[in-house]
Amino acid sequence: MKENAGFRDDFLWGGAVAAHQLEGAWREGGKGVSIADVMTAGSNESKRQITDGVQPGVYYPNHEGIDFYHRYPEDLKLMAEMGFKCFRTSIAWTRIFPNGDETSPNEEGLKFYDQLFDECLKYQIEPVITLSHFEMPYNLVTKYGGWRSRKLIDFFLNYAQTVFERYQNKVKYWMTFNEINNQANYYDPLPLLVDSGLIVQPDENIERTMYQAAHYELVASAKAVKLAHQINDDFKIGSMVAVTPIYPQTSKPADVIKAEKISQARYWFEDVQANGEYPWWLKNYQAKQNWNLDITKEDLEVLAENTVDYLGFSYYKSRCVSANPGEAPQYRYQGIKSFAPNQHLPKTEWGWEIDPEGLRIAMNWLADRYHKPQFIVENGLGAVDQVEPDGKIHDPYRIDYLKAHIEQMKLAVVEDGIDLLGYTPWGCIDLISAGTGEMSKRYGFIYVDRDDVGKGSLKRLRKDSFFWYQQVIKSNGEKL
Ligand code: BG6
Repeated sequence: MKENAGFRDDFLWGGAVAAHQLEGAWREGGKGVSIADVMTAGSNESKRQITDGVQPGVYYPNHEGIDFYHRYPEDLKLMAEMGFKCFRTSIAWTRIFPNGDETSPNEEGLKFYDQLFDECLKYQIEPVITLSHFEMPYNLVTKYGGWRSRKLIDFFLNYAQTVFERYQNKVKYWMTFNEINNQANYYDPLPLLVDSGLIVQPDENIERTMYQAAHYELVASAKAVKLAHQINDDFKIGSMVAVTPIYPQTSKPADVIKAEKISQARYWFEDVQANGEYPWWLKNYQAKQNWNLDITKEDLEVLAENTVDYLGFSYYKSRCVSANPGEAPQYRYQGIKSFAPNQHLPKTEWGWEIDPEGLRIAMNWLADRYHKPQFIVENGLGAVDQVEPDGKIHDPYRIDYLKAHIEQMKLAVVEDGIDLLGYTPWGCIDLISAGTGEMSKRYGFIYVDRDDVGKGSLKRLRKDSFFWYQQVIKSNGEKL
């Protein structure tokens, strides 16, 4: 075995975005309405609302995004200037199948991505593409109840086949469903909608619905893996999970068990996608509930035979848990309500724990469990930036955050021997926050002049971190 002296020579340095958070042009080029188009603006204090269709007089920040749809040549030029080797974005499903259930695609949408990928390739920037990143057609929600319906598997595969065939000579790295495991928190309407197009119905057992919907998505993902390899042997298809290591708050065994159970509830999706089978605890749990889920023998075969080629994941933070006396033996996972403070870690302005070592922990954990190459497809700091009178943006906090994470990522590669394909920090150009709908929660190396109510010139400016990241890429991670 060769020892890892540093990052691979072909390491994919780049940045990540998602169509609905930056493209805008929500009604152009034959695009249909997506779930992101019915989500209002929010903040840390007031949650984004999901409206019943697009309502007049309501501000929907994703409708205009940062107008990347019209400005992508300028934006890619800036990314090329930073030295990007890859650019992770998604295809907006609604540009290709506006309602999701058509049989033939929208040529204008396909042409847009031809042009976008050609523009990337002009700079030797490799497109890394997510098929479904929180932006499924809204029609699939209203007409079929989202991923509650098995029919969505065929609709998704029709879409996947269309884009695999069309872009087979332009795109090699794909991912199926973005952060498919966010819906593990079925107490919150937002992840249910964005992951699976689920709007909770009165008296519904939403936990059961989540497990059913996630199963159909996992089958669709495995079938997409199969299809992709049939279309082009060189394709690499990844899963994409949000990785948040869960620490016990103390060394009390009850805290340790709770941390393990909450991890299981969040990461079983990866067990299915990477190992090809449901974990024992979940088979046992589902059987105990008498839910009678629609999981067929053929589904289980498809899952077993078509595991992913690599593990794509996002990493922003770790979380901590503390067991309460008398908690149920399953230690039910309830998102933010399940977490306890970690006194050892600072937090971002949005209350996310900053934990660079957590990234190395996560990488080791993924490596031990799944034995596949990894790709960090999101990481970064959401922060408020200030434009100085001379037009400069000094963002040392962002540089510090990324530097500390790259250092840990390097330890995972050099010391722990982990096979890491690339690193694409999130929101390399400022965009609409998925969680809050804000513009002021900025992640970018490139600043975009737009505010939380949609005002601003949309002008792009280079932040200090732009020049810092440029030398990181140039030195293949040596100059931090
Ligand atoms: C991930 C998503 O959850 O984190 C992105 O894949 C999202 O779409 C990113 O934007 C950061 O979260 P937020 O809520 O700060 O935008």
